[in-house]
Amino acid sequence: MMSQFLDAIKARRSIYAISKEEVVSDQRVEEIVAEAVLHTPSSFNSQSSRVVVLFHEQHDKLWDITKETLREIVPADSFAPTEEKMAAFRSGRGTVLFFEDQEVIQGLQEQFALYKDNFPVWSEQSSGMLQFVVWTALANEGIGATLQHYNPLIDEKVRNEWNIPASWKLIAQMPFGKPMAEPGEKPFNPIESRMKVFK
Ligand SMILES: Cc1cc2nc3c(=O)[nH]c(=O)nc-3n(C[C@H](O)[C@H](O)[C@H](O)COP(=O)(O)O)c2cc1C
Repeated sequence: MMSQFLDAIKARRSIYAISKEEVVSDQRVEEIVAEAVLHTPSSFNSQSSRVVVLFHEQHDKLWDITKETLREIVPADSFAPTEEKMAAFRSGRGTVLFFEDQEVIQGLQEQFALYKDNFPVWSEQSSGMLQFVVWTALANEGIGATLQHYNPLIDEKVRNEWNIPASWKLIAQMPFGKPMAEPGEKPFNPIESRMKVFK
């Protein structure tokens, strides 16, 4: 069991080339994301994480919105690579949007003034854990995904398009789909430089 867990962690990679073809049913993806949201820990069990899962045309819309937002700020003569990147994400089947509910965090700050400065940090950490659980669980089903950060540029348009509550802060976007290429080589720094053991 333990080795299966670590194997799943090792198998997760950033997969940029994705298609719309079904790997597992959309319902299965929904189940995975729901399980991840329920069972990923959060500070004080605050459960501050929120997600929105976009499939098909809704997913396409997100990457159209992102492309048009970037077009407003990237110089026209250097927009081609950005446009290509947006098209690659749009080629996927869906996107998971990760949010953190700021109302929950403010509530905790008022309730536990001693930890006031920590709650926003812990909220980001909890979101990171959730992102990793979803990413790894999707990879475990044979789905490729990457982690993207077009927030805060797209926040307002996303909020308006999907009627997102004002207190939900967008943290990350995870486009996913059928993997169409192997991930590149990943260099590893020596573990000795990153880990100390005392016994
Ligand atoms: C907190 C965090 C933020 C990241 N942000 C981005 C991002 O904005 N865009 C992107 O393409 N990849 C992003 N990545 C992916 C990393 O570049 C990638 O995980 C790393 O290079 C290792 O490659 P692997 O995912 O294939 O193992 C992010 C990863 C983490 C953990």
